[in-house]
Amino acid sequence: MTSNEERPGSGRRFQRALVTGGSGFLGSHVCDALVAAGTAVVCLDNHCTGDPANVAHLMGHPLFSLVTADVSEGAEVAGRVDLVLHLASPASPSDYARLPLETLAAGGPGTAAALRVARRDGARFVLASTSEVYGDPLEHPQREDYWGNVNPVGPRAMYDEAKRYAEALTTTYGRVHGLSTGIVRIFNTYGPRLRADDGRAVPNFIRQAVADLPLTVYGSGDQTRSLCYVDDTVAGLLALAGSDHPGPVNIGSQEEVTVRDLALLIRDLTGSRSVLDFRPAPPDDPRQRRPDIGRARRLLGWSPRVPLREGLLRTIAATAERPSLSRAEP
Ligand SMILES: NC(=O)c1ccc[n+]([C@@H]2O[C@H](COP(=O)([O-])OP(=O)(O)OC[C@H]3O[C@@H](n4cnc5c(N)ncnc54)[C@H](O)[C@@H]3O)[C@@H](O)[C@H]2O)c1
Repeated sequence: MTSNEERPGSGRRFQRALVTGGSGFLGSHVCDALVAAGTAVVCLDNHCTGDPANVAHLMGHPLFSLVTADVSEGAEVAGRVDLVLHLASPASPSDYARLPLETLAAGGPGTAAALRVARRDGARFVLASTSEVYGDPLEHPQREDYWGNVNPVGPRAMYDEAKRYAEALTTTYGRVHGLSTGIVRIFNTYGPRLRADDGRAVPNFIRQAVADLPLTVYGSGDQTRSLCYVDDTVAGLLALAGSDHPGPVNIGSQEEVTVRDLALLIRDLTGSRSVLDFRPAPPDDPRQRRPDIGRARRLLGWSPRVPLREGLLRTIAATAERPSLSRAEP
């Protein structure tokens, strides 16, 4: 883990943070980084898509506690916090398709509950938003002042619109109650602890490649993704938390790769004999996604540091150490 202390823009130290969704992929790395920086962490999660195993190594640590609860039903957190990071939400397309109303609730009532904790304690609040607020973008790369191209009744609407509402709620709540709020728009992130069955391209390809199964490529494979290694994303999120800036700030990699090249790279790095298996593209699958990260560079001094090949090697190695992550129902 790259310490956020080494990063510019992350000067402020927090005493005690609430991390909703803290036992998920990103949230568990956020908990790690905060504890490593000496911040006490209350991790609140209902484990609907996360896994307590992601924070098992923190259990018993004096700075860490785990609360099992659904943030959409309210966040009862005993004791004062000075930072609230709201990450709780299903995040992969297969998860939010399986949990559509829960996803809307995490963005609506869940965000409101997390904001109320921040208001109660006068804490800094940061929302983990997403590049999905840009929908299938008509501008490339996407800057924060682009309003997006989202289908409000499409198959991904429960996620995209929940996050758009969560952004509006965060901004409005901050204005009305004079609360310090920030919004990070996270682009595709990968790394250790991504669930093999969560449907995202990197864990899918790794799981299939290590088993020499065909690598499932949806569509022509010419669609591009920009993949950011988790340590970089966490550093960006914490840099915004440590600033007073309201955002939104894009956090992501500008290294664009086609899905076909990604599959081939993972095949090479795993030494796999898998072939590529092309399937029809899902509806509303974005064709191209790449952040403009000029704002993050200027305001936070942040930019990603881990090249794709290096990050994939680390992810593959971690998957081998926790083989349960590479097993999933086909
Ligand atoms: N990973 C990415 O590439 C990415 C990209 C953009 C945005 N994000 C955002 O970052 C956050 C974390 O994403 P992730 O990739 O770690 O996903 P994840 O599914 O691994 O983690 C989400 C966590 O939130 C928990 N959760 C969901 N609903 C909850 C509820 N109602 N109450 C309590 N806990 C709840 C889940 O159990 C899980 O632990 C999400 O808000 C997501 O929208 C992630």
